[in-house]
Amino acid sequence: MASLSLKKITAVWIYTILILFVLAILMGITMRFTQGKTISVSPIEFYLLMTTHGVTMIGIWAAAGIVAVNYLLARYIKVSTSLNVFALVFTVISILMLWASTFIGKFHAGWTFLYPLPFHIAWETWATPMFLWSLMVLSVSWFIWTLGSMVQILKKYSLRQSFAIQHISKKSPSVETPPLVLISMVSLLGMVVCFIAAIILLALLLAEYYSAGKFVNDPLLIKNLTFFFGHTIANEALYLGLATLYELLPEVSGRPKFKTTWYVALGWNCAIIFILGAFFHHLYMDFVQPKGFQIFGQIASYFATIPSVVVTIISIVTLLYNNKIKWSLVNLLFFIGLMGWIIGGIGAVIDATISNNIILHNTLWVPAHFHTYNVMGNVLFSLAFFVWVANEFSDNNDLQKYNKLVMPLLMVGGFGFVLMFYWAGAYSVPRRFAMYPSELSSGTALASAAAWFACIYLVGVLLVLFDVLKKCAKVFSSSSH
Ligand code: HEM
Repeated sequence: MASLSLKKITAVWIYTILILFVLAILMGITMRFTQGKTISVSPIEFYLLMTTHGVTMIGIWAAAGIVAVNYLLARYIKVSTSLNVFALVFTVISILMLWASTFIGKFHAGWTFLYPLPFHIAWETWATPMFLWSLMVLSVSWFIWTLGSMVQILKKYSLRQSFAIQHISKKSPSVETPPLVLISMVSLLGMVVCFIAAIILLALLLAEYYSAGKFVNDPLLIKNLTFFFGHTIANEALYLGLATLYELLPEVSGRPKFKTTWYVALGWNCAIIFILGAFFHHLYMDFVQPKGFQIFGQIASYFATIPSVVVTIISIVTLLYNNKIKWSLVNLLFFIGLMGWIIGGIGAVIDATISNNIILHNTLWVPAHFHTYNVMGNVLFSLAFFVWVANEFSDNNDLQKYNKLVMPLLMVGGFGFVLMFYWAGAYSVPRRFAMYPSELSSGTALASAAAWFACIYLVGVLLVLFDVLKKCAKVFSSSSH
C-alpha cells in the first residue's frame, strides 16, 4: 500500500502536472486562434509557443504515467519515494530551463528541434545550449527514475516473471504477474532505451555546438535518434496510461480484477519490439534511409497497435459485456479514453501506410492523430487516475458524485477540436504554419472553430482540476495511513 510520503509526492506531482497542463492548453488555444486570424501573435511568438507547448505536453503526460504506475505498484512492491522526489526536483529544473530558453531566449525550433535547425540561430545565442541542456537534465534524471522503478520491480519478481513469460507456457503458474507489473515493465523498458538514445543525441548536438564548427553531425543519424526518442517517449506514455486502466477499471466498475493470461503476456511482449521499431515511419521521406527500414517501419507500425489494442479490447469487452457496471467519472474517463486511443490509433495507421503518407505527410493529419490519442486518450486515462487517487486521499469513496458536465464538455470540446485537425489534414492543410496563405483559407476557418472547441475542453479540465486539487490538499493535513 502507498505510504503517506508516497501519497504526498504523488499529490505534488498532480499539482505540477495539472497547472502545467492548463498553461500548455492556453498556448495551444492561442496558436489555433492565431491560425484562425482571431488574434494576432508574431511568427516567432507562434513558434516559441509551439515548441514550449509540444515539449511540455509530451513531458507532463509521460510523467503522469510514471507517477500513476509508481503509486499503484506500491500494492505489489516497495516503491521508492525518494526516487519520485528526485525526479520531481529535476523535472522542475528542466522545465524552468526549457521555458527560459523559449520565453526569454526565444528558441523556437519545434519540439523535435530537427537538426540542423538548432544551429541556425534565430534567437539569443545562449538559448540553443539552454534548450539542449534542459532536455539533457530531463533525460538523465528520467533515465534514473525509470530504471530505478524497474529495479524496484525486479527486487520482487525475477526478470522472467516481471515480463510474465511463465504465463505464456503455463495456464496457472505458481507465481502470477499482475497485468500492472507486466505493462509497466514493458513501457518502462521502452522509456529507459529511449532516454539512452536521447542522452546520446543531446551529447552529439552539444558536442557540435561547443566544437565551433570542428565537429559536424551526420543528419540522418541525428534524425533517427531524434525520432527514436520522440516517437517512443510519446507512445510509451500511452502504454503506462493503459497499465493504470488495467489495474483500476475493473475495481471501480465492481468487477473482478484482470488476470494475466497467455495472450495478454504474449501480446505485450511482442509490443516491445514493434513499439520501438515503429518510429521508422517518421523517415519515409528520407529516401537515403535503407529501404528495409522503411518496410520494417510500416510493418512495425501495424503490429505495434495489434497486440496491445486487440488484447485490450478483448479484455474490456469481457469486462463490460452482459455485466452490470457501476458507472462513475473514473470508469467513464477510462472508457472514453479507450475510444479516443483507438480512433487516434486508426488515424496513425492510416498515416503510417506509405501510399497514404505521400499525401498526408506533414499535413494537419499528423497533429490530428497524435492529439486524438493524447487529448482524448492518454490524458483521460491519467485524469481518471487523478480523480480516483484524489478520492482516496480525501477518504471520499463515492466516485459517482461528480459534476455531470465534465464528460460532455471533455467529449464535445476534445473530439470537436481534433476533428478540425483531421478535416484540415484531409484537405492537405500543412502543419506548423503560423498563418495560412489565402489558397488554404479552409485551414483558417477550421482553426478558429478548433480554438473554440478547445475552450470547451478547457472548461471540462478546469472542473476536474478544482475538484482534484481540493481533495489532494487533504493529504498534507493527514498524519495517518
Ligand atoms: C486542448 C488541448 C490542446 C490544444 C488546444 C493543442 C493545440 C496545438 C496546436 C495548435 C499545435 C500546432 C499544430 C500545427 O499547426 O502544427 C499543437 C502541436 C503540438 N501539440 Fe498540442 N494541443 C493540445 C493538447 C496537446 C496534448 C495533450 C499533447 C500531448 C500529450 C500535445 C502535444 C503537441 C505536440 C507534440 C505538438 C507538436 C509541436 C511541434 O510541432 O513542434 N498537445 N498543439
